[in-house]
Amino acid sequence: MTYMPVDGKPDRMHVGARALDLDKWIEINSDYESDLSQKHELLTNKHDEVFVSIPLGDAGSREVLALLSEHLPRIFPERWPSEVSVDSSLHPLEAASRLVQEDLCVMSQVGNDWILSAASLCFPSRWDVREKIGKNLLGIHGPVPHYAETIGTATQNIFDKLTVERPLWRVNWTVMDSGELHQPTAVRSPDAMEINSENIEQSLYFRRERQTLRKLPDSGDILFTIRTYSDTFAHVVEQFPDFRKHIGTTIAGSTPQLVDYKGWANILNELQSWSQS
Ligand code: HEM
Repeated sequence: MTYMPVDGKPDRMHVGARALDLDKWIEINSDYESDLSQKHELLTNKHDEVFVSIPLGDAGSREVLALLSEHLPRIFPERWPSEVSVDSSLHPLEAASRLVQEDLCVMSQVGNDWILSAASLCFPSRWDVREKIGKNLLGIHGPVPHYAETIGTATQNIFDKLTVERPLWRVNWTVMDSGELHQPTAVRSPDAMEINSENIEQSLYFRRERQTLRKLPDSGDILFTIRTYSDTFAHVVEQFPDFRKHIGTTIAGSTPQLVDYKGWANILNELQSWSQS
């Protein structure tokens, strides 16, 4: 299990972007085969729900495919001993997305705005990529409480100042009552169990998104990758015992708007009792 962004401090919106070592751009783990087969299934059977593009993103998408085709055999020669095989009949971002566990978003600059111009988004955290295509950073983050007045300007600056030489990464997290990676809607999963003190450690999931930002040298677009990890609380505390105490104090420091946005209202009481016991 990787990434522990919860440290017990109150949950506040922050950018928290750090320099990315490009050799660590893409992560591959033992879930590769199952994640990739789920992506292939979604891209085949629900294509228009998980893949969007406008012509503005075509050049950047071709560049992403070229970069990945060079990167993967170099960094993971045991998986790709020669070259990657790519279906050239596909949109280049879809072809790229079928190689890695990450979701891929191309952002293109139009005037002062960074616009979502192509995305392969199989593992959304309860949002719909079809509603985001063609929108700028503020528009994409419209439903996120406090975004505009807290980190909106800082995020825009990161995009404006990003250089080819200095890519970035950051982590977002949430708690969910389902471990499914593909969570397209904001509603609670219909088969979600009632959370109680008996089942909480198996029923709540700590979901992390490891995100990277990389400026593409030729098109000038920016590639945003999202790698989603989800583990039960039981699994998390095995490796990070302090998580139990920290998640309670961190979530207690959330605003009511964030609690509402994240869908935590109906798990909050059980979560706090578990955390304090
Ligand atoms: C430095 C860059 C970025 C920062 C700091 C940032 C920050 C955030 C934060 C704090 C949230 C709230 C969700 C949570 O806390 O769980 C969020 C949600 C989201 N972000 Fe970003 N974000 C960045 C870049 C992007 C980009 C490039 C996209 C392009 C697709 C994007 C798409 C979204 C979407 C779709 C949501 C969910 C919105 C919804 O609920 O409809 N973000 N982001």
